[in-house]
Amino acid sequence: MKTGLYIHIPFCKQKCRYCDFASFAGREQRIEEYLAALTKEAQLSPIKQFQTLYVGGGTPSLLTTTQIQKLVEIIIRNFGPIRNFEESTFEANPESLTEEKLAVLKQAGFNRLSIGLQSFNDADLKTLGRVHNAAQFLHAYQMARAAGFDNINVDLIAGLPGQTLTSFEKSLQRLLDLKPEHLSVYGLQIEEGTPFFEQGIVCDQILMRQMLEQTRDVLTAHGYHHYEISNFALPRCEAKHNTHYWENGEYIGLGSSAASYIKGVRRQNTPDMGVYIERMERGESPVVFSEELTGKEKEGETLLLALRKLDGVELSAVQEQLFGTEIKKHLQSGLLEPDGKKVKLSKEGLFLANEVFCSFVPPFEDL
Ligand SMILES: C[S@@+](CC[C@H](N)C(=O)[O-])C[C@H]1O[C@@H](n2cnc3c(N)ncnc32)[C@H](O)[C@@H]1O
Ligand code: SF4
Repeated sequence: MKTGLYIHIPFCKQKCRYCDFASFAGREQRIEEYLAALTKEAQLSPIKQFQTLYVGGGTPSLLTTTQIQKLVEIIIRNFGPIRNFEESTFEANPESLTEEKLAVLKQAGFNRLSIGLQSFNDADLKTLGRVHNAAQFLHAYQMARAAGFDNINVDLIAGLPGQTLTSFEKSLQRLLDLKPEHLSVYGLQIEEGTPFFEQGIVCDQILMRQMLEQTRDVLTAHGYHHYEISNFALPRCEAKHNTHYWENGEYIGLGSSAASYIKGVRRQNTPDMGVYIERMERGESPVVFSEELTGKEKEGETLLLALRKLDGVELSAVQEQLFGTEIKKHLQSGLLEPDGKKVKLSKEGLFLANEVFCSFVPPFEDL
């Protein structure tokens, strides 16, 4: 059975104004202690063989070259050569990628990069509180190609304050000129506690939807396969690690805030980086939450994740029995549609997926 390995690097140069991920700015002096804590957690991992690896954050590329080398050694010593993973992704932000870091990553065997751009428009990047501009992204992207990375994902966000349909399309077109193998395009979420939330920024849902529809049309016309709500790939470049999540596969997460899902049990490490380091130093478990998914909850979770993929899902007899009424309701309302023996999100359902997903998580209406 396949298993994924995720390693969380919770450091960022500056906190972006929309971001509520478990990441911290200005704490670089703790990276060494953090790597020591990761070493301990890696040694304790109940699983040692993985098929996919994802180093995400935060900003993994904020680590210095030497720190990246240390991280690579932690992975190799505990889980074997990185080139043995079917897919190994390293997440990077444009301003902190260097030729030296890219050479270390390539030499170590990483075969995929994910670069956060968010927008090709400098005014948007300023609004978002990003520390890079479009030119820095272009430079980082070209360095990555020159270093031999032939599988690159770029993240974009649609529905930004001040963004228009025209400026969004321009941003998308500039990115398409570079032909990245994979694109993740998210609709802006205003998360509680972020500066965007405090400022009272509200998303224009209609405009955002137009942008996401435009994304789908333009990318499909350029040969990208829309295979998950927010993800597009050139043929055979779909993200293996993420696909494994959507197929409800097992994974281990290392580091603060990282989640694991093994044998039906979901565990979550403390999101507090300082507490994570202290717990690992004292030989204590970093896990702060754990639950076993069983019965209807487990089936619902499997269904919800599978429906994220655009090719849909063939319901098992058990899923049919547990969720048949709900599925029928969404088929009637047009958020789901039949596709041979499968059901999948309709064009409308893609934008209202959460309305569908609500039916598959507790509290269930029939309880
Ligand atoms: C784990 S995050 C961080 C990746 C990397 N540190 C960066 O900022 O480029 C992965 C992606 O989630 C997306 N994201 C984060 N917060 C978001 C939000 N509030 N709304 C929409 N997309 C968001 C961004 O596209 C981001 O690149
Ligand atoms: S979006 Fe990325 S760089 Fe910005 S604060 Fe979040 S994790 Fe850090």
